[in-house]
Amino acid sequence: MSNHNTRKPLTLTKLRELHTTREPIAMLTCYDATFAEVLDEAGVDCLLVGDSLGMVVQGHSTTLPVTLDQMVYHTACVARRAPAAWLIADLPFGTYGEGVEQALRSSAALMKAGAQMVKLEGGAWTAPSVRALTERGIPVCAHLGLTPQSVHALGGYRIQGRTEQSAHIIKEHARELADAGAAMLVLELMPTSVAEEVQEAIAEVITIGIGAGPSTSGQVLVLHDMLGLTRGKLPRFVRNFMDGAGSIEAAVRSYVAAVKSRGFPDPNQHGY
Ligand code: KIV
Repeated sequence: MSNHNTRKPLTLTKLRELHTTREPIAMLTCYDATFAEVLDEAGVDCLLVGDSLGMVVQGHSTTLPVTLDQMVYHTACVARRAPAAWLIADLPFGTYGEGVEQALRSSAALMKAGAQMVKLEGGAWTAPSVRALTERGIPVCAHLGLTPQSVHALGGYRIQGRTEQSAHIIKEHARELADAGAAMLVLELMPTSVAEEVQEAIAEVITIGIGAGPSTSGQVLVLHDMLGLTRGKLPRFVRNFMDGAGSIEAAVRSYVAAVKSRGFPDPNQHGY
């Protein structure tokens, strides 16, 4: 581990303080030790070992094939070199859908690997697991809007919450997850106005947006997308921070600065 990283470790208490004082939280996905060290030193608040690794690391077209063992492996790699950032790991598809016991078992494996919080996708049906995990001291991040593990049911990677009814459903699910104890909620690919209403409805919960506009407590991007490594057409909310940056560390620092100063996302260019 490098000895010039003097950051104080982020805690859930500190993240709640950032949320309350409205200092935006900068999150990026991360899958290995080298990037973990760079991101941690560059001041990223939270690292997400996302099951997006199925796409950007493994080359699959969805996140569905990712296994719990693979998530444990990547979480341990990141945990070894991220002493300051708050570390969140995704529960992959098929490792919590059977209910509370499966969710507890799978989450324990991620926490033993070094995660400080687990993330799961889905609405009110996940609330019993969110409650059981929270009660047992495992902080939970929920995930609403575009939930990539449901890509086939959703008919593709599409914007969610566009109709009044679907926006209402997102808000109801957010309330149930907050009541169950979710400490954080990722809001993916939805109109800015819907994310705003969700944040208002669950003011106590830290929200992290991706393609959801500027009103959330923080922002997350997939590392490979913001470094301009992903081939093909990218969603329009993604910004390539490598443009003119000169180095990966400079690009990451510029992302952190843009999130903190509310220069990213740009509500005019990226709102839905
Ligand atoms: O897996 C992932 O990278 C994610 C983010 C897109 C939020 O869930």
